[in-house]
Amino acid sequence: MNTSSPIGIFDSGVGGLSVLREIRSAFANEDLLYVADSAFVPYGEKSPQFVEARSVAIAEFLVDRKAKTIVVACNTATGAAITTLRSRFSVPIVGIEPAVKPAVGKTASGVVAVLATSGTLSSDKFGKLLARFGGDADILIQPCPGLVEQVETGDLYGEKARALTAKYLLPLLERGADTIILGCTHYSFLAPLIREIAGPKVSIVDPNAAIAHELRRRLEDKGLLSPDPRPGTERFWTSGAPNDVKPVISQLWNADVQVRLMPKRYCRST
Ligand code: DGL
Repeated sequence: MNTSSPIGIFDSGVGGLSVLREIRSAFANEDLLYVADSAFVPYGEKSPQFVEARSVAIAEFLVDRKAKTIVVACNTATGAAITTLRSRFSVPIVGIEPAVKPAVGKTASGVVAVLATSGTLSSDKFGKLLARFGGDADILIQPCPGLVEQVETGDLYGEKARALTAKYLLPLLERGADTIILGCTHYSFLAPLIREIAGPKVSIVDPNAAIAHELRRRLEDKGLLSPDPRPGTERFWTSGAPNDVKPVISQLWNADVQVRLMPKRYCRST
């Protein structure tokens, strides 16, 4: 592992591509490895132990491929596994969590809504985050079953996407929420639809850019930034069926990409 080693990034599926996008625009010359754990998506309805075991298996895969750092591009996996990942692996591990602090700083109505998976919202980590940064704001918690699966289909604007998003969003707006936290990386791809439904006055808070920032800080700290001026590459892996995953990754990444199957030993359910 050295400065020219790749950065590893993973999510339960295609949601983490929204983080990958930010990382690519912040680091033009780094090589990136992306894992979509598509055989086990969604994580949000699974036990923390299951999500932790999958996160460890994927981190092992990335470290075996010489990743110099790992970005957990999934709020649910960060909540369930980041402590374990940090204790098991020596490379820097960067996670993502709902951006409660900036949202509370932004709200004028005093009502903030968090859209996230059930797994994230019921995690200890999220409880602590609310206690620390929730302040006096009225924080509405909204789990969104089905929304991750919707994004996995690649249909981000159709009738089904619109109906499901509106079902979760409208009651929050009716209760006065003027700031919406996207607490799941999949939902970033629904931001244009959320903007359309919520209107221009509502703030949408997405932590993805902050992750790229944090990643730079960690890489600088360890002297791991690549000095190589050539453009970086992206490689995509999945635990699911590459032929099924490839069209959606290509659509969301805006390029015809190759998606490979991870070796079986990293794809077990326990
Ligand atoms: N992108 C994951 C997150 O940020 C989605 C979790 C899921 O697969 O349910 O939480």
